[in-house]
Amino acid sequence: MKVLIFDNEENATRRVADFVLDTVTKEPNSVLGLATGGTMLALYALLCRKYHDGLVSFSDVTTFNLDEYIGLNPEHPCSYHHYMRNAFFDHVDINLSNTKIPYGNAADPSEEAKRYESQIAQSNGIDLQLLGIGQNGHIGFNEPTSSLASRTRIKTLTESTRQANKVYFDSLNEAPKYSITMGIATILEARNLVLLATGVSKSAAVSDMIEGPISASCPASALQMHPSATIVLDQEAASQLKLTSYYHNVHPQGSDSAFD
Ligand code: F6R
Repeated sequence: MKVLIFDNEENATRRVADFVLDTVTKEPNSVLGLATGGTMLALYALLCRKYHDGLVSFSDVTTFNLDEYIGLNPEHPCSYHHYMRNAFFDHVDINLSNTKIPYGNAADPSEEAKRYESQIAQSNGIDLQLLGIGQNGHIGFNEPTSSLASRTRIKTLTESTRQANKVYFDSLNEAPKYSITMGIATILEARNLVLLATGVSKSAAVSDMIEGPISASCPASALQMHPSATIVLDQEAASQLKLTSYYHNVHPQGSDSAFD
């Protein structure tokens, strides 16, 4: 696990944008795994700027989003379909037919989850999977106690996740209770994982993910088993880590080093 700690959110986000640019520049038809949520908004804004500056093209890229709320149609302003178009897809040259997100309004959400899992398998795999982390350690919507061997499926959201997400809805009652999410095993099959966490509210989950035991109690701790997982943090998100001086020593100011 590579732990890169930056002095602020802006520099952490820049580093993740560079991961995306490097991936797409080396392989224009890369398959990217995408995340949503507040943390990712600054990243997508930056990627849009890089595209407008002529530094990258997404025209041959395929994307798979991690999750979607059950019950929301793609036009719903709080759906992740809507989020992705608004934050990213509508502002770059990506081919919309190559952007995949589970359909939360499918008549049979379980079948939809299976269809999505096989669509990922048929894609030749995800080259770079972007991840955020919930305050309870979730990745995608794999809430604590999710099987570390899980595949794309329906997942009931915890009260704390619904509370965190209710800002986007009129009330807690409106915030969906269920999601379709890639499973933890699905996520771990991506060739490279990059998780971005910023702000003090993530510091406990970040410390459990990096320095705690591998446990379904903190789904993100499963990243410890991945051979190419990079965790990109600002100082606040890193504030409860114990081995901080080691991380700074190996990657001063979040820089790359010859040896990890
Ligand atoms: C959503 C997703 C979630 C978020 C997490 C953090 O696609 O993957 O795991 O990354 O809930 O969300 P924010 O950034 O809003 O704190």
